Amino acid sequence: MSLFQQRRIQFIKKMQVNSMALFPASAETIRNNDCEYPFRQNSDFHYLSGFDEPDAILMLIKNADSHQVILFNRKKDKSAEIWHGYRLGQAAAITQLSVDEAYPVDEFETQLESMLNGVDALYYPMFQSDSLDASIKTIVNKLRVSKRRGAIAPRCYFDCLPLLHEMRVIKSEAEAKLLAEAAEISASGHVRAMQTCHVGMWEYQLEAEIKHQFALQGTRDVAYNSIVAGGNNACILHYTENDKQLKDGDLVLIDAGAEYQGYAGDITRTFPVNGTFTEHQATLYQLVLDIQVAAINQVKPGVALVDINKSVVERLVDGLLLLGLLSGDRETLIEDESYKAFYMHGIGHYLGLDVHDAGDYGTLENPRLLEAGMAITIEPGLYVSHDADVEDCWKGIGIRIEDDLLVTEHGAEVLSADVPKTIDEIEALMADAKTHG
Ligand code: GLY
Ligand code: MN
Ligand code: MN
Repeated sequence: MSLFQQRRIQFIKKMQVNSMALFPASAETIRNNDCEYPFRQNSDFHYLSGFDEPDAILMLIKNADSHQVILFNRKKDKSAEIWHGYRLGQAAAITQLSVDEAYPVDEFETQLESMLNGVDALYYPMFQSDSLDASIKTIVNKLRVSKRRGAIAPRCYFDCLPLLHEMRVIKSEAEAKLLAEAAEISASGHVRAMQTCHVGMWEYQLEAEIKHQFALQGTRDVAYNSIVAGGNNACILHYTENDKQLKDGDLVLIDAGAEYQGYAGDITRTFPVNGTFTEHQATLYQLVLDIQVAAINQVKPGVALVDINKSVVERLVDGLLLLGLLSGDRETLIEDESYKAFYMHGIGHYLGLDVHDAGDYGTLENPRLLEAGMAITIEPGLYVSHDADVEDCWKGIGIRIEDDLLVTEHGAEVLSADVPKTIDEIEALMADAKTHG
């Protein structure tokens, strides 16, 4: 049985008897006229089907002692395929995806009307797909008004996402391998960036080096829009313009990850454009690196990400007090969150098919604890922008160091270890590239 079939069975086990679940594929998004944005399959749909065409719906039906998996997908169409590309069609869907039945997607509402009649409960990702929401509204109301003719509309409606996302939080061995591959490819992109970076290069040119490396390593896709931020731009957390020239004496922060077979890498490295850290850059960099390594060492089952972040904040405040970027009482600075002027995001997140992956984090009072099989990032940062209230020598320095981890029984495996992060390693790699081209 394929992984996708196994996941469908696992989800069906969670459904009540006499129920149906619907999962829509992503739709194509028009960029202008007849050009579309690059298509990316909906991660939940991919997780259950392994089918990466747009305009499809997966239907799971659970009866008392049986179940059915039905796919609605695009019809084969010679002309459409000549213009727009291959379509799997229904016959091949049954054999290749191991679904029980497949119908053309333009028959979805007609089929839904008869298949939903008499079903007690409907599971679907509520309020996520306008077109699925509209189809369900149409068909449910048709069944309701047909009750004098014996039709019965479902009585219970469930959001299927919390159930499915719980399955996605813990990665199988196969998923862990794909994540490791995504991290390795991402790491090689960062190495290439360090090797090719030079003063006067444009941020988008460095971005192109990374993407080129991803392609050479076997994937065309990025897991999110790359951030290539020179100097003060690194203090803009989601800087993706990448359209400035890299300056001598600045650092460059790169947050970039490859997507490999749907799985995300998410790595950040910060290094000097000219290959050598200044004294002030090195001081702040070493502080962030020590904090990041300590945070990684805290990762193990039973620990909460928010508690790791508490230690991160304590270490950061201690460091900033020592260097004079913060002043005052340590506990007050932590309590009133003054440190957020320099570190304003969280310590990390789940990683998987989505870069910010599915799954419940619990509440601040009752956070979810890490478990073996979870994949997470650890990514502390320190951002001292031009308008920070500190001595000029610290300004325009933004640093983040981010690695991808798989939580294991007793700790964590760093999946992105192939890209250097100590000052010596980075400077040596960059110097070597300059010498040997
Ligand atoms: N690249 C997005 C993040 O680091 O969370
Ligand atoms: Mn991240
Ligand atoms: Mn990132």
